[in-house]
Amino acid sequence: MSLLIAIDGPSGSGKSTTAKLLARRLGLGYLDTGAMYRAATTEYLRRYPEGAGADAVARLVEEAALVCDTTPESPAFSINGHDVTEEIREPRISAAVSTVATNLEVRRLLTALMRGIIADHGRRIVVEGRDITTVVAPDADVRVLLVADPSARVARRAAEVEGRATAAEVTDQVLRRDRDDSTVSNFTEAAEGVTVIDSTFLTPDEVVDAIIALAPRA
Ligand code: DC
Repeated sequence: MSLLIAIDGPSGSGKSTTAKLLARRLGLGYLDTGAMYRAATTEYLRRYPEGAGADAVARLVEEAALVCDTTPESPAFSINGHDVTEEIREPRISAAVSTVATNLEVRRLLTALMRGIIADHGRRIVVEGRDITTVVAPDADVRVLLVADPSARVARRAAEVEGRATAAEVTDQVLRRDRDDSTVSNFTEAAEGVTVIDSTFLTPDEVVDAIIALAPRA
């Protein structure tokens, strides 16, 4: 039976933690679509350190061999034979990713790739991102918009970077990313049929329980 779970939300809302936990609990695949945009960004920076026009960026993505591992325990990504699983988390990738993610042709290409991965899994997969409930899989069995107060999102990011950035830098990064990301998709308001879950005061397990409660019974 199909069990496609789409989770959107801003950075720091707890999407990745929740989606991985959920996939493990339900025995589903796990796809981090933000990591796909990040992987494309590593190749963009490698190929065009001085920057490039929108057409060149789209061509690069069209020709790239992007391999996404969907195991929730160890999701790995490679592009054109380079394993970029670690590199995609570097601050220089976070800083440049919006150049790639705001390219509409890139979005079209990666959306097609995401749909192919969903189909390959027989629609038994948790997919997280910004436009999964609205564009990539509006027909998903469960559609969730995960939100959290900005202060909670900043605190979670600060814990992740563990002193490698000041509180002011983390706050600036989270709020700037919200602004950049909102130019390509509206993930701050739920589309019709999408359930909003506020994770500010919930543990990851409580968020997972809330999502499982929305799943259709077999
Ligand atoms: O979730 P993340 O921080 O790893 O996402 C990286 C970037 O990709 C972020 O700037 C938003 C963008 N993104 C997107 O535009 N659409 C998605 N489905 C997933 C991520």
